[in-house]
Amino acid sequence: MEHIWKQIDTYAKQWIKQAGTLIKQSFSKELLIQAKSNPNDLVTNMDREVERFLVGKIRETFPSHHIIGEEGFGEDLESKEGVIWVIDPIDGTMNFVHQQRNFAISIGVFENGIGRIGLIYDVMHDELYHAFKGHGAFMNDIELPKLEPVQVKEAVIGLNSTWVTPNKRIDKEVLTPLVRDVRGTRSYGSAAIEMAYVAAGRLDAYITMRLSPWDFAGGKVIVEEVGGTTTTLDGAPLDILTKSSVLIANPILHSEILNNYVKRDQ
Ligand code: IPD
Ligand code: CA
Ligand code: CA
Repeated sequence: MEHIWKQIDTYAKQWIKQAGTLIKQSFSKELLIQAKSNPNDLVTNMDREVERFLVGKIRETFPSHHIIGEEGFGEDLESKEGVIWVIDPIDGTMNFVHQQRNFAISIGVFENGIGRIGLIYDVMHDELYHAFKGHGAFMNDIELPKLEPVQVKEAVIGLNSTWVTPNKRIDKEVLTPLVRDVRGTRSYGSAAIEMAYVAAGRLDAYITMRLSPWDFAGGKVIVEEVGGTTTTLDGAPLDILTKSSVLIANPILHSEILNNYVKRDQ
């Protein structure tokens, strides 16, 4: 591993753990909760504080790197050139507010659009999912095995209940047959945790209609490192500058879902 990437990796792991500590400490203080685009789109002072903390560390240590962050402390980028950190300070803010669990900090570090490092830290379970492209994926430093092929009838899949596409086409007609055919469905309310669960074999696939780059950047690197396929519901690669639908699974299940279910009415 090149020296600079080893350094980035070490710092990223250290900072994400420190950010987790900041969140845990916040439970004894008052939480300020606001709505963003709609009454269910929540943001708290901790989402902002954690992003400010991570952005501060990155800028201080790697001033030439670029940053995309959900809460606006990063940049508005139009190019994927150079090193870009894609940060979601709290993924699953609704869970954070309502349950004080089932949320994660997600970081993906990309070089010229290629994912090099992915980190997802499930703070309350103290589970750090981490991958370095070409060097393996880990959960708390235990290497995750490559994904095994699973068929639809034996699959447990993560689904987001908001089955509405950006053009307002409700996809229940497309997804109902899939829900009927799989062994079970789960919905955890944090895209990052759901992607980490696919990487760890706790879920066999994850499907959602619309995510932002900060929701999937870390998970994309981790899932790909265990041999999973990550695309949009049209089968296109995920782009770290573009919002999109997401379908991730082991390659066999991914093509079975894509060919036999998702595209059924297209
Ligand atoms: C949300 C979570 C949720 C997903 C939403 C995301 P946030 O992220 O990942 O599971 O369904 O689309 O916006 O707002 O909690 O960071
Ligand atoms: Ca998110
Ligand atoms: Ca967030």
